[in-house]
Amino acid sequence: MSDPTRVGVFVCDCGSNIAGVVDVPAVVRYAAGLEHVVFVDEGRWSCSVDALARMQRIIREQALNRVVVAACTPRTHEPLFKATVKEAGLNPYLLEFVSIREQVSWVHMHERDAATWKAQELVRMGVAKAVLLEEGAEIRLPVGTTCLVIGGGMAGMTAALHVADQGFGAVLVEKAPALGGLLSRISTVIHGRREVPATELVRAAAARIEAHPGIRVFTGAEIESLGGYVGNYQLAVRAGGVSERIDAATVIVATGMREIDAAGHFRHGEDPRVVTQLELEERLRRGDRLDGVEDVVIVQCVGSRNETRGCCAIGCAVAVKNALRLAADGAGRRVHLLYRDLSLVKDEHLHLEDARQAGVRFLRFPDDRYPELLETEGKLAVRVHDLLLDRDLELAADLLVLTTAYRGDDSVDRLKGLLKVSANADGFFQEAHVKLGPLDFPAEGIALGGCAKSPKFLRDSLEEGMGAAMRVSIPMKRGYVEAAGIVAELDLEDCENCGLCAKQCPYGAIQLSDQREPSLLQALCKGCGLCAADCPMECISIVHYSDAQLAAQVDAALAERPAEKIVGFVCHWCALGGVDMAGVSRLQYPPHARLIRVMCSARVPIRLVERAFERGAAGVLVAGCEFPTCHYITGNYACDKRMERARKKLAKKGYDPARLWTLWCSAADGPKFAGAMREMVRALGLPAHNGSAASSTAGRAS
Ligand code: FES
Repeated sequence: MSDPTRVGVFVCDCGSNIAGVVDVPAVVRYAAGLEHVVFVDEGRWSCSVDALARMQRIIREQALNRVVVAACTPRTHEPLFKATVKEAGLNPYLLEFVSIREQVSWVHMHERDAATWKAQELVRMGVAKAVLLEEGAEIRLPVGTTCLVIGGGMAGMTAALHVADQGFGAVLVEKAPALGGLLSRISTVIHGRREVPATELVRAAAARIEAHPGIRVFTGAEIESLGGYVGNYQLAVRAGGVSERIDAATVIVATGMREIDAAGHFRHGEDPRVVTQLELEERLRRGDRLDGVEDVVIVQCVGSRNETRGCCAIGCAVAVKNALRLAADGAGRRVHLLYRDLSLVKDEHLHLEDARQAGVRFLRFPDDRYPELLETEGKLAVRVHDLLLDRDLELAADLLVLTTAYRGDDSVDRLKGLLKVSANADGFFQEAHVKLGPLDFPAEGIALGGCAKSPKFLRDSLEEGMGAAMRVSIPMKRGYVEAAGIVAELDLEDCENCGLCAKQCPYGAIQLSDQREPSLLQALCKGCGLCAADCPMECISIVHYSDAQLAAQVDAALAERPAEKIVGFVCHWCALGGVDMAGVSRLQYPPHARLIRVMCSARVPIRLVERAFERGAAGVLVAGCEFPTCHYITGNYACDKRMERARKKLAKKGYDPARLWTLWCSAADGPKFAGAMREMVRALGLPAHNGSAASSTAGRAS
């Protein structure tokens, strides 16, 4: 009976990029001898239009039902080959990609035999996985046209207006009795060299919101419950004593920020003469003329730029604006502004000039000598060490203004639990990626903007509100979202209902029934594999990265001379990016590693690490994204902890735990990966790695 599994292997020369180092005909001969391989092709440029058309023809003629491409890196070329095999009628999930350029020819340029052997083994690993691949499919979810906007400050109002102006519905929920957020507590905002009353801006935006037929507004409102996923959010909102259930397709989070509690700093909260910038703003907005205040001292960086918090980003401009206002209002005040560094950009420098001309005195103090508050006979003064004069000064202070750090709104803790998103220690929501997804959360259909993310000026908040509206508009306009089919699959036969999977899932994709039985919402699953790796009963599998497929790669990697090999698990994003960068940079390192791609380091279970050692590996490397970045929120942290546990287990089993390495690197960090390879080979005492006997003969995977 003929073999139903028909694997075709396409090995690329990449001109001389691969063929200049690797003996490609030897790789082809080797692949032809592997079980299930029915066709092998050598292509000069496998990604050229002609070669792709030829590949499609061969897939049809040879009735291939698995394809292995051995070429450059999957990070750039996998989508092209997936599309190619799909057009030829093959499910794209039945394609496996092997990198013999970035991982072989470019990094072992002077070791032809070892490079050829490594290329053969990578092909063997690819074939071993390919025969176990199963068909997959993208998941499509319908998305409606109503967006929930949480937060009625300027960012939230802008977002709601831009959503509604496109013809979608917006539901704006604000917990305060009126719209406006932080801006309604502020006196003026800077516009060029001018100051504009903040109330005018709030009034204009609120009027547009209230007149817009596409926006429903709830003020003085509490979100009682909120759950769901893109296309299917349900919330209960309570306003005016009435509860209402609302469905929304997308969510924008614009909850704003607040000042940190300044209690404990300069007797704030005990002495009314000590106020924060926001408290000063409120007094100025109310028209308080600050009668009797002749000497004002402003102290910068209160509670910021220290061990726990960085620069607040807006404090300098706010302080200069208010210093100018207090010095130039005709009351003849003396105003001192005490700072460590003045960080001003764009038009803010104009204000600095104006403030200097209005008589504001700027004094710089050293990082390690903070100004001190003094009180003599009921009068306040501040002692400061002036860096320019290199001496201490005592400044009278009828009013002491503290420019404090900020933190996220107090609703953040609850909201992040409801929406399954993350926030940092200061309560600011965490974007998906600082460059690639600055207004996105990792989960699709939720965007963020304004001061919910970090302190920022009005103009930036407005732009982010607009940007967030555009982000959520994309799926609402299209009418659906499509997720890659690399997702978890649950087989509950052995499940003991421990609930660990639901607890671990960073996306809330696994939910527990009342009997604690897990179920998966595939649309929410991103396929990181954290649940599958941690499930003690091995009830969870990941499409395209199943335990069996990964184990087959481990076994294939270690079929020959395992004691000379390092089995490496690398995440598709940063770690493989680092591997590729080492290749692009032609960094040369020893050829002992056989790398296995996973989507996230969180996918690597302890049992697979143990399997590699049981098969005789010299070492195991688990590499993921540099902290704190992980494309699956916290997968690298989970992996790091798990590998600590793995070391303990290995030690109990008699393996040297020092042979398990972890590496956290950025996609740009080729030198770090290459350095780790050299260091690991040296620490493990591995011999120079020459070609195998298999390199010149046809092989057969054991
Ligand atoms: Fe790289 Fe998670 S994606 S470690």
